[in-house]
Amino acid sequence: MHDVNDVLQADGAKPELVALVEIILGAAKHIAHCVRQGALAGVLGSTEDENIQGETQKKLDVIANQILKDALLENRQVCAIASEEEDTSVAGNPAGTYLVAFDPLDGSSNIDINGQVGTIFTIYPARADVACDSELQFHQPGIQQLCAGYVLYGGSTLLVISVGGATRCFTLDANGNFVLTEAELQIPADTREFAINLSNQRFWRSAFKRYVDDLIAGDTGPRAKNYNMRWNAAMVGDVHRVLMRGGIFSYPSDSRNPSQPAKLRLLYEANPMALLIEGAGGKAFTETQRILTLQPQTLHQRVAVILGSANEVEACLAYLK
Ligand code: F6P
Repeated sequence: MHDVNDVLQADGAKPELVALVEIILGAAKHIAHCVRQGALAGVLGSTEDENIQGETQKKLDVIANQILKDALLENRQVCAIASEEEDTSVAGNPAGTYLVAFDPLDGSSNIDINGQVGTIFTIYPARADVACDSELQFHQPGIQQLCAGYVLYGGSTLLVISVGGATRCFTLDANGNFVLTEAELQIPADTREFAINLSNQRFWRSAFKRYVDDLIAGDTGPRAKNYNMRWNAAMVGDVHRVLMRGGIFSYPSDSRNPSQPAKLRLLYEANPMALLIEGAGGKAFTETQRILTLQPQTLHQRVAVILGSANEVEACLAYLK
């Protein structure tokens, strides 16, 4: 049993849910092809536009968004979609039973340097009490996700996915099939590796700065061990490393821009990654609570993120109490 269909059904996913995942994977294979072709397909560089978050859109962001949007809205099961690249949610079939949210191409600043990028996605049940064109459809805590995953376009194209139980990893083979290559990811509880953008430290709250200062102090400080730092500039790449060998990844709140106290988006970044991390035995918190229990207030809401090796996340949270 090595293909996505069999594995997810054995994990308890309904055939209709698995069929929807297959649609997302079809779109992801198309995106993988565009990423691989790069300059040969004329897809590198920026557009003239900004997205709702005020970020310059790369051509590949727009292309990846369109590929997913077209594939999903054709599907009768899809009640609505939400994307990092869309200002509002987009209605599908009012009788559809699923909602899909996605970051079509996470890590955009890596596109033009041939670095890691990826598609992050999450699936929720559609709400019968809310119209399909209302963004309230998506105001569901992450604990209600039916499935979460990402496709990482790196040296290999990988799918990491969970339908609420174990977190599993598949590798795209030369025939275009995702083959199970890590049946059950397990994050070690302890680590000596952190992924935090240190250039923001003057904007952090003092307790978080103290935590990072103590990591950097290594075996001469209170943590009494040496840490190494890694920063991918793509959450999907950093989270993948944490899933494979442990570590802590954090994008904390900061005071750079008072109207935007955190960077990562709850719906299509923090929540899907939190489900995958917890499925592999790790922890995923904001500065005060488990990410999966947050009640969303807006579609593109941003939250502080601290996730990874369980004991290290606990150690970080202890500084913030
Ligand atoms: O989507 C936001 C994102 O690109 C993440 O993938 C990544 O972790 C982060 O921003 C990178 O932030 P910075 O620009 O501070 O390195």
